[in-house]
Amino acid sequence: MKESTLLAPPLRDYMLAHSQPLDAVQRRLIERTSALVEVAHWQTAPEQSALITLLVRLLGARNAVDVGSFTGMSSLAIARGMGPDGRVVACDVTDKWTEVAREAWQTAGVADRIELRVAPAIETLRALPSEPYLDFSFVDADKEGYQDYFEELVVRTRPGGLIAFDNFFRSGRVLKPVKSADHAVIEFNARLVEDERVEVVVLPIADGMSLAYRK
Ligand SMILES: C[S@@+](CC[C@H](N)C(=O)[O-])C[C@H]1O[C@@H](n2cnc3c(N)ncnc32)[C@H](O)[C@@H]1O
Repeated sequence: MKESTLLAPPLRDYMLAHSQPLDAVQRRLIERTSALVEVAHWQTAPEQSALITLLVRLLGARNAVDVGSFTGMSSLAIARGMGPDGRVVACDVTDKWTEVAREAWQTAGVADRIELRVAPAIETLRALPSEPYLDFSFVDADKEGYQDYFEELVVRTRPGGLIAFDNFFRSGRVLKPVKSADHAVIEFNARLVEDERVEVVVLPIADGMSLAYRK
């Protein structure tokens, strides 16, 4: 299971023990993703999944996008917050993990709400309808793409909708950048808060998640 950047294990365990518990589908998805060893930490954390489902439910979301769907946890969280008429466009550049994701979506009974598009996410986003119809988006793919993903999503998000970005803290490296992705997130975070089209709230959850509320 993905670790928290901010909470040491005892407190994090305490928090998880007193939050919405994982169900069998999520536990199996964590188990299957753990077997992928070197990329297992990519998976959306349990506390974030619960929050995403709650936000989607509170928004009454019917149209959503998941940028970087990997083995399917975030798309699952989004789809579960929607009613049967909800639609999630899940984007990933590879189909390496499609089978794992589909098993979870099917077992959870939400597969018909999720459309996986395997292509560079920027192409998928540019092909979406250009009017503001999106209620919720979650962005967790290549960090160098965040600004471009934001530009495509913000014009398609309805007033009152949300765009959430994962890895705000880059495991603390936003204060001491090492990788090019760290610099990309630092620049993105600085631009987002200045953007007049959104109000930004950052949550210190998992590795940090910024919420851009579309004005
Ligand atoms: C951190 S993982 C996403 C984790 C996922 N949200 C979850 O809930 O488990 C990042 C994903 O973004 C994908 N990705 C990387 N670059 C991409 C791109 N240019 N377009 C679409 N997906 C991309 C990777 O293949 C990977 O599956």
